[in-house]
Amino acid sequence: MTCAAAADTGRAVADCAADPITVLTDSAEQTVALAGALAPLFRAGDVLLLAGDLGAGKTTFTKGLARALGVTEPVTSPTFTLVRSYQTTPGPGTPPDACNVRSLVHADIFRLDHLREIVDLAIGEMLEEGALAVVEWGDLAIPVLGRDALVMSLLHGSGPDDRSATFRLTGYWESRRGDLRARLQSWRSARQE
Ligand SMILES: Nc1ncnc2c1ncn2[C@@H]1O[C@H](COP(=O)(O)OP(=O)(O)OP(=O)(O)O)[C@@H](O)[C@H]1O
Ligand SMILES: [Mg+2]
Repeated sequence: MTCAAAADTGRAVADCAADPITVLTDSAEQTVALAGALAPLFRAGDVLLLAGDLGAGKTTFTKGLARALGVTEPVTSPTFTLVRSYQTTPGPGTPPDACNVRSLVHADIFRLDHLREIVDLAIGEMLEEGALAVVEWGDLAIPVLGRDALVMSLLHGSGPDDRSATFRLTGYWESRRGDLRARLQSWRSARQE
């Protein structure tokens, strides 16, 4: 069993639309901080699908995640290269745990037209080797990668820097809903607006 699947409580694949959680950010820096707050949630083999508006901050969020996971190389948008892989480095307090994320795979599938092309990116193989996969326009990959995924949709808000981030959980991610909520506790929630 993969590290990520070990968190599975045996529940059936959750309805992707069930009980979404939404938080708000009002600057790129806050979106980076949101990524940092969520980083400890991820395990080797996890899939994060980033959906939402053009230019809403998917790459900005990924850069924040990379920073929090100890990626030292500059993270650039993979719009043309489609997929890039970055080595992570464990932080000072990170236990020597086989479930720790070993690399961050960053994909952007905006330009792909067929599911076969998503399969050909071989993200599944990289997950087996201990990667966390972050896929921009990831809603397009749901038929390939969406069985067990955290799906985050970033949307523009009313002000130029306002964004909402809505989280949906599928498969074994549903068993981590409590962890996700705990990490988002200090964030402005859309329900409180
Ligand atoms: N609250 C915010 N969160 C994220 N980015 C923000 C926010 N406010 C302003 N920005 C700006 O919006 C832009 C987001 O660009 P970014 O490339 O991250 O978006 P994207 O969703 O990856 O775009 P694309 O759809 O082209 O892949 C950046 O210039 C960033 O500084
Ligand atoms: Mg992008």
